[in-house]
This record gives sequence, structure tokens and C-alpha cells, in this order.
Amino acid sequence: MRAVIASAPGGPEVLTVTDLPDPEPGPGEVVLDVTATAVNRADTLQRQGHYPPPPGASDVLGLECSGVVSAVAPDVTDWAVGDEVCALLAGGGYAEKVAVPAGQLMPVPKGVDLVTAGALPEVACTVWSNVFMVAGLQPGETLLVHGGAGGIGSVAIQLAKALGSTVVTTAGSDEKLELCRSLGADVAVSYRDQDFVEEVRAATDGRGADVILDNMGAKYLDRNVSALATQGRLVIIGMQGGSKAELNIGKLLVKRGAVIATSLRSRPVEEKAAICASVVEHVWPLVSDGSVRTLVHTSFPLEQAAEAHRLMESGQHTGKIVLTT
Ligand SMILES: NC(=O)c1ccc[n+]([C@@H]2O[C@H](COP(=O)([O-])OP(=O)(O)OC[C@H]3O[C@@H](n4cnc5c(N)ncnc54)[C@H](OP(=O)(O)O)[C@@H]3O)[C@@H](O)[C@H]2O)c1
Repeated sequence: MRAVIASAPGGPEVLTVTDLPDPEPGPGEVVLDVTATAVNRADTLQRQGHYPPPPGASDVLGLECSGVVSAVAPDVTDWAVGDEVCALLAGGGYAEKVAVPAGQLMPVPKGVDLVTAGALPEVACTVWSNVFMVAGLQPGETLLVHGGAGGIGSVAIQLAKALGSTVVTTAGSDEKLELCRSLGADVAVSYRDQDFVEEVRAATDGRGADVILDNMGAKYLDRNVSALATQGRLVIIGMQGGSKAELNIGKLLVKRGAVIATSLRSRPVEEKAAICASVVEHVWPLVSDGSVRTLVHTSFPLEQAAEAHRLMESGQHTGKIVLTT
């Protein structure tokens, strides 16, 4: 099969299409003929040598895909050859074939085409697991989501609105702020020109955000704690603004707040399976009825993975960047 690996740590130019042996399904696994995969920030970090795959995971990049089941291990009973699915991966998506633990497969939601489905698993599983399973966002509460025009942020806005929350979000340009509003954000704040702490307070009668989904890490830690409501939950999923910062415990303690940091990729197979099952139960109906959609900015053939990485690193995209086999 053709697959994309990073030949050495470096820029997008190190991404190389290579021939690898076709994967066989191990116990509890299925093999997919991949239709589409999508680019994640973690892929660009892995390419640079900053985010090695977890033990046992493929060196081939790619944390999600869609495709058709082409082989099934004898102990797998839930899936059959020919099923159209999408999957959360620990790696291996930038390839014509990939072996996946059966619990990480999800049916393609009704009304979604197979290519678009390749850009759903990572955003759906990340937003659902962090905002709802970990932080427990409730109807009537306020969510602050940073980077609302990105792949994760755009789905977080729609999902939180569909489930009855007020949403405040940040973005970096007028066009992206407008996109966030069109997705349902109640308040869209320019992270370049405005103070999001003040804007969150203004939107909540001074209360603050009950849940914050943060992609920035160190750079926003103190301001995020300031923006939290009493008993607020800050979930950090990215370190685009660095990984080390000082936490004012006094400020957090007075609010009885929580700071949580999580990574989807490093979770054990059973936890990923539980997240996928919960996503299928709670998120897929909202995708099927059109309340939540993954925005595909553009699509490249697998051979142009380097172009796709350049686009993500330029920050000019909105939503997801797809690769097709
Ligand atoms: N921990 C996990 O399990 C997990 C899983 C998936 C993703 N993630 C992380 O989630 C983050 C988003 O991923 P993605 O796939 O959505 O990437 P993406 O589409 O490239 O989005 C990146 C976002 O960062 C925003 N941003 C840049 N500078 C900012 C600033 N100063 N303040 C606020 N926002 C800023 C961008 O906003 P503009 O475009 O408006 O400039 C954009 O919306 C990444 O950090 C990724 O690593 C974590």
C-alpha cells in the first residue's frame, strides 16, 4: 500500500509517500481501505519530531479516516467486509489501508458522504469527550471555546449550541469571527483586538464561563482562570501557546475551579472505544439531522500531504483539511 511517513524530523518537505506491506487485522481489529483522512495539529508536531506515536502505534501519520472494511479478525462480530465506516486512529490514516481496533470504528452518520466522514472522528471525539464527558457542560451553562473557526472549535460551537449552552468563542480575523457567529456562537471575540476575559464576563453578567475548551495552554492559563465561573472547568487540549506557565492557585481555589489537561491519542483502546460509542449515541444524531457538521476547508490527494501541512501551519484555513487516497 502507499502511505505517508516523515522521512526525518522537519518541515512539510520531509513527508514522503512510500510503499509498505498491507496491514493484517490483529485480534480485535479490522482493516479498512481508506477513502479519506484529515490533517490534525498533532500530525504537524509528529512530523517535526515533537510528538512521537504512542508505543505500538504506526509510524504512518493520521489520527482519523473513513473507508470501507476490507478484512475482519475472526473475533470481531460487529463489523463486516463492505461496511462503510469512519475511525479514530492512534496513527496510520495517511495510507491506502489501516488496521484499527474494532471499538474505534463508527458508522458513517446518515447524510454524510464518505470523504467528509474522514474529517469527523477526531473533532467529534475530542469535543464530546472533553466538553461533555470530562467537563460535563450542562444545558444553560456557558462554554468559552478558543479558536472557534478551527476544526475542533467549529464543531464545539455547534455541539454546545445544539445541546442548549451559551457559546463565547475567539478567532483571529473578521471573516473567521463571522463564520463563528454563523455556526451559532452567541459572542465572537477577536483574540487580536479584544480582551476575552472582559467579553466573557460581559456575556455572563459577570459570572464567567462554566467550561473553557483551550487550545493555547501556557499563554492563556492565567486569563482562562480569570474567565472561569465559580466551579468552572478549564480543559486544556492544546499547547499552541506553550506548555509551561504559572498557575495562580489562590484564584482557582476561590472559584473552586478545575484545570484539566487531556490527550485523546494516549488513551487506552478501551477508553477510545467508550468515547466512540458515546459519540455515536449522542453526537451522530445531531450530525445526521444537520445541527452539527464538520467544515471541510479543502481536500488534497494523499501525495500532496506536504501542501496540506503547509496550509494548516499557515493558519489560513477554517475547519478541516482532508486528504483522499
Ligand atoms: N488533546 C487532544 O486530544 C487534542 C485532540 C485534537 C486536537 N487537539 C488540539 O486542539 C487544537 C485545535 O486543533 P484543530 O484541529 O482545530 O486545529 P486548527 O484547525 O488548526 O485550529 C487551530 C486554531 O487555533 C486558533 N488560534 C491561533 N492562535 C490563537 C490565539 N492566540 N488565541 C486563540 N486561538 C488561536 C486558530 O484561530 P484562527 O484560525 O482564528 O487564527 C484556529 O482556530 C490544537 O492545538 C490541537 O493540537 C488536541
